[in-house]
Amino acid sequence: MIFMENFEQFNKTVSTLFADHGGDLYGGEAITQERHGLQCAQLAENEGAPPSLIISTLLHDIGHLLHDEFEQAQARGEDRFHENLGSKFLGQWFGPEVTEPIKLHVASKKYLCATRPDYHASLSPASVHTLRIQGGPMNETEIAEFEKLPGYEDALRVRIWDDIGKDPDMKTKSLDHFLAYADKI
Ligand SMILES: [Fe+2]
Repeated sequence: MIFMENFEQFNKTVSTLFADHGGDLYGGEAITQERHGLQCAQLAENEGAPPSLIISTLLHDIGHLLHDEFEQAQARGEDRFHENLGSKFLGQWFGPEVTEPIKLHVASKKYLCATRPDYHASLSPASVHTLRIQGGPMNETEIAEFEKLPGYEDALRVRIWDDIGKDPDMKTKSLDHFLAYADKI
């Protein structure tokens, strides 16, 4: 069940995080964290995704904004597990419909690399680099376990938008527009 104890607190907390860290570059991509999140959310909205999945997509990388040393850690080849950090943080306001796709969005890349031959070839150089840090494609056992997880299909949708939402020229609606979906969950 999705619960929303305090929409105002959520809105203010997340807006402040984006104001403070949203201008950081998104990994090795030519795009900021905020632009990346907005583009992914726009793609989800364009496909008619439900409010919970739009919020999940908008905030799938919020773990990066919570960790000041993220950029340096990634450059050193360390995995800071931003997916766990982000899903735990959002769990103070939301249920699994929002948090599970975030928790699984890194595993989704490993799943898609193992199950869709054309997917790996489509990844950006920065994404290939992080895939290595994250342990590479799944094996057969990992694939079977992943497909048992509730919500894994939503996580795959977030992952696909995540990979597309890196266009420096894409126009999107505002952060406030997408954050308002939290009140509709
Ligand atoms: Fe992302």
